[in-house]
Amino acid sequence: EKGGFSSFMDKEIHDQPHAVADTLLGRTDPSGKLVLDDLRIDEAVLRSVDKIIVVACGTAAYSGHVAKYAIEHWCRIPVEVELAHEFRYRDPIVDEKTLVVAVTQSGETMDTLMAVRHAREQGAKVISIVNTHGSTIPRESDAVLYTHAGPEIAVASTKAFLSQITAAYLLGLYLAQLRGNKFPDEISAILEDLRDMPRKIQTVIERGEYVRATARSMKDAKSVLFLGRHVGFPVALEGALKLKELAYIHAEGFAAGELKHGPIALIDEGQPVFVVVPSPKGREGLHSKVISNIQEIRARGARTLVIAEDGDDAVRPYADEIFWIPESATLLSPLLAVVPLQIFAMALATAKGLDVDQPRNLAKSVTVE
Ligand code: M6R
Repeated sequence: EKGGFSSFMDKEIHDQPHAVADTLLGRTDPSGKLVLDDLRIDEAVLRSVDKIIVVACGTAAYSGHVAKYAIEHWCRIPVEVELAHEFRYRDPIVDEKTLVVAVTQSGETMDTLMAVRHAREQGAKVISIVNTHGSTIPRESDAVLYTHAGPEIAVASTKAFLSQITAAYLLGLYLAQLRGNKFPDEISAILEDLRDMPRKIQTVIERGEYVRATARSMKDAKSVLFLGRHVGFPVALEGALKLKELAYIHAEGFAAGELKHGPIALIDEGQPVFVVVPSPKGREGLHSKVISNIQEIRARGARTLVIAEDGDDAVRPYADEIFWIPESATLLSPLLAVVPLQIFAMALATAKGLDVDQPRNLAKSVTVE
């Protein structure tokens, strides 16, 4: 059942190109228009939405955090991302014009289920993005958008994360189409780019040996930091979570811009820091800011492990290791940038002799509050 792989996690990392491709499958009509058939919420209601709140936990919440950048950009609707267990207890401002998006692989996470119930009691419509058919959360939602990642067995989420981002992007594009925020040809162009992502994800996986070798050389690391900006920020958070869960190493993700507001005090000689570098062709100023962040931490002795786009020579002088990913639009880059971080955490845990599919103290679905 592991299909010749050493662990379910390894298999699921390799499944990722398919998980993304399958999540995109059958979502357009012959004219190229995006159709989300399972989304049975009145179009007039979706047009009137004035706020989106994503509720989720763990990795699913990070996929929501990535999607926030895309949905706000495409739809011009404010998007909040809230941990499901925090949402309920803060008296959130939710009404009929609020769309709550619950993201969950298992469809059984109790915290997320309680957030869904709370949102519906306040009159909000709930769309869930779910991987597991027949689970509870889709039954209690107004509509469901399934991710088609296939069963995810390893406790650490990998392919579900990529397919959650993909599904949330489909939802964002659908809302943009419905509300006329984007021209149909712009939407088709983004969908075209999305359809090209599985091939690029495959390329990143094929480059995995260098990541694994680096991880093996770092098995005695006591702490690893992760930095990113814009969509690279939730990728950094996810990289840190994977390393905590699997390798039991202290790991923390930061928004790179926060460095000088505190975290830079942690940097001393030899401190490993992953940096997710945005595309040099992306948003003005973003790339150069992250390059200065790398310079700042390198000058203070950090060992820099950089994820950068093919051909980005500007990173070379400041990087101890570079994990190259293919070029992509900034908003799509998390689907690539997270993959080396998954492989790194898995390989480091394996080098420490740990069980990567079933880390200590964790359960695959957390059905208690
Ligand atoms: O099944 P869910 O997507 O609702 O699970 C949410 C989290 O419990 C889950 O993502 C958890 O953080 C994973 N172990 C992360 O690898």
